Amino acid sequence: MREVAVIGVGMTKFGELWGKSMRDIFVEAALKSIQNAGVDRIDSMYVGSMSSGLFVGQEHLGAVMADYLGMNPIPATRVESACASGGVAFRSAYFEVASGNSDIVLAGGVEKMTDGADVTDALATAADQEYEVYQGVTFPGLYAMIANAHMHQYKTKREQIAAVAVKNHKNGANNPNAQFRGEITLDQVLNSTLVADPLRLLDCSPVSDGGAAVILCSMDIAKKFKGTPIRIKATAQASDTIALHSRKSLTSLAAVSVAAAKAYKSAGITPKDINFAEVHDCFTIAEIVVSEDLGFFEKGKGGPAVEKGFTSLGGKIPINTSGGLKSKGHPVGATGIAQIIEVYEQLTGQAGKRQVKNAKIGLAQNMGGSGASCVINILEAL
Ligand code: COA
Repeated sequence: MREVAVIGVGMTKFGELWGKSMRDIFVEAALKSIQNAGVDRIDSMYVGSMSSGLFVGQEHLGAVMADYLGMNPIPATRVESACASGGVAFRSAYFEVASGNSDIVLAGGVEKMTDGADVTDALATAADQEYEVYQGVTFPGLYAMIANAHMHQYKTKREQIAAVAVKNHKNGANNPNAQFRGEITLDQVLNSTLVADPLRLLDCSPVSDGGAAVILCSMDIAKKFKGTPIRIKATAQASDTIALHSRKSLTSLAAVSVAAAKAYKSAGITPKDINFAEVHDCFTIAEIVVSEDLGFFEKGKGGPAVEKGFTSLGGKIPINTSGGLKSKGHPVGATGIAQIIEVYEQLTGQAGKRQVKNAKIGLAQNMGGSGASCVINILEAL
C-alpha cells in the first residue's frame, strides 16, 4: 500500500442555502478543494450522501456530480453509510490512492435537507424500520434513550450533557462556515424546547444544507502541488446492530470502540497521542459517549470531563473545535468530510481563533444512525 496525503480542502458554508441546488453546493465545495490543492486533474472521485433521493429526488450522484463538475469520464462513485457517508467516502478515496489505482482523488460529501422533504422521516430510514421507526421512535428519541441510560448508569448530570452544546457553540462562533455562530448559555440549553426527554432543541444538531470536499494523492507526488500535504496515518471502520435493543449496552457504542482500537493499532499510537478530535455530536450525549469509547476518558467520566473543560479549546484534548455538528451544522452526507477539513486546517495551522497549539495528530470520528456504522480517520502533520 502507498502512503496517502490530503493536499487541499474546500467547503460551502453550512446552513439553509435557499439560493443553491444540491449540485451547486457540491460543485462549489469541489472547485474550492481543487483550487486549494492546486491540482490540474483528478483521476476519480467519491461522493458521500445519505439520502439525496428522499431529500431532493436525485440519485445516481456519482454521475450527476462528475457531469456538473466537468470531470467526465472519470470514475465517480456515490457512497452511503447514513450520517457516516462522508467519512466512508474519504476512506474509499484513501484505498483508491493507496492501492495505486488512482494518483489524485476527490472525496466529497453533500446534502440538501431543507428543500421540503420530511426530514425526520428521511433520517429515520437509517434506523431499524420494523422494530424502531414503526413504533414511533425518531433519532432524537433514540439518543434520548442513550442519554437516560448514561445518566442512570454513571450519574451523568443533565448540566454536563448541556455543557457540550455550550462548548461547541463557543467554538462554532469562530468558524465562518458554521450554521449557528452565536454563543449559548447552560440556562438556554436547559430551558430550550423539549424534543425527546431529556434532550432539548439546543442538544440537537440542526437540519442543514452543505457540501465539503478534499483532495487526496499519493505521498510521493504530494509536494509537487500548491497545497500543504498532511499524512493519512490510519483509517478504520466497524459496524454494530442497527437497533438499539439488540445491543449489550446502551451506554457504549461498540462500532466506535472497535474502529478506534483498529485505527490506533494501525497508526501505532494510543489515545494519549491524539492532540484533538472532531467527533460525531449529532446530539450532545453522543459526544460524551464517543469521547469515552475513543479511550479519551474512562466510561462514565465523559460528562465530568466536559464540565471541567478538558475538551474545550486549550483543554487536555480539545473536541469539536469546528463547532461540531451542533453549531457548524449537519448536512448528513457532508459531515464526515467537513470533519477532515477541520483536522486538516488544525494540522496546517490555518484554524485561526480555533487553533489548537502544537497540533500534530488529529482524529475524525463519523458515525451512522445510532452508531450502527462508524469510521475513524487519523491524520498527522508532516
Ligand atoms: N440548534 C440550534 N437552533 C436550532 C436548531 C438546532 N438544532 N434547530 C432549529 N434551530 C432554530 C431555528 O433556526 C429556528 O430559529 P428562528 O426561530 O430564530 O428562525 C428555531 O430554532 C426553530 O426552528 P425549527 O426549524 O422550527 O425547528 P424544528 O422544530 O423544525 O427542528 C429539531 C428542531 C431539533 C427537531 C431538528 O433540528 C432536528 O430534527 N435535529 C436533529 C437532526 C438529526 O436527527 N440528524 C441526524 C442525527 S443522527
